[in-house]
Amino acid sequence: MRILHFSDPHIPTPLSHVPLVKWLGKRAIGGANLILGRYRLFADAAEKLAALARFTAEQRVDLVICTGDYTALGLTHEYEEAVRTARPLMNAPHGYINVPGNHDYYLADALREERFRTYFKTTLTSDLPESQVDGPWPLVRLIGEDIAVIAVNSSRPNPQPWRSSGKIPENQLAQLQKLSEDHRLVDRRVFVITHHAPMRANGKKDNRLHGLTNADQLLLVCSEFHRALILCGHVHQCYHVIDKTTGQAIFCAGSVSLEGKEGLWLFDIQGDEIKATKGRLNGRHYELSSEIKLTNQAYPC
Ligand SMILES: [Fe+2]
Repeated sequence: MRILHFSDPHIPTPLSHVPLVKWLGKRAIGGANLILGRYRLFADAAEKLAALARFTAEQRVDLVICTGDYTALGLTHEYEEAVRTARPLMNAPHGYINVPGNHDYYLADALREERFRTYFKTTLTSDLPESQVDGPWPLVRLIGEDIAVIAVNSSRPNPQPWRSSGKIPENQLAQLQKLSEDHRLVDRRVFVITHHAPMRANGKKDNRLHGLTNADQLLLVCSEFHRALILCGHVHQCYHVIDKTTGQAIFCAGSVSLEGKEGLWLFDIQGDEIKATKGRLNGRHYELSSEIKLTNQAYPC
């Protein structure tokens, strides 16, 4: 089984498409940020996702996972573009699983109008619908005989311009805890996916304005699974780290489209062994670079 994980494409759209009434508060600052640099850094995101779709087909990927931040400002026309651009990635044999990022819920209107659930509706089916206690979350997908993916949502609107932190709601975490004891998952390799990184590459927690505010709780719950891996994004750096306290393995895919720092993870799962290989962009093509082998007993780097 081969799984591709990417994150944070931040697909740009023309700022002239933003209705005047939406240029208030944090979006005015976010728009200025786009003009001043972000727009340039993600300018080729759509072309890069097209290259990623070609890479996915070439590598015979079975399942594609995206950990959010398709947009910059969480607006309707950005969602339209995001779905259009990501659609070629949704055709893998075992489908496509995703969660929203904080930019997709930029302000309360994105959440109030359920934009993520509306535009990504076809990707939000769960094999265990009775576990969905907070909208579609946690969303569980049983992949083949040996793998399960559980998606929990850490993103929320952050009206303060300086804040982009996340939190997994208590009811989702409680349900995740229940799933760790569910007989249907006990023999499966579990991938828990969410947008915010519970830990940075240096093994330290992210700060309270940018990080996952209940990272400790997530790490603790995930360590209750027999052998779970956490996949995330938000931090625009592709890395792998192990939490020393819980032994929990974390893979952050960084951004698939950030100029000069494009990254992704490719996981090959065979029995108890997982090979995790980093990917990068070389010219107009993604390619594989360094690899890590994980066993059932431990997660050596
Ligand atoms: Fe983010």
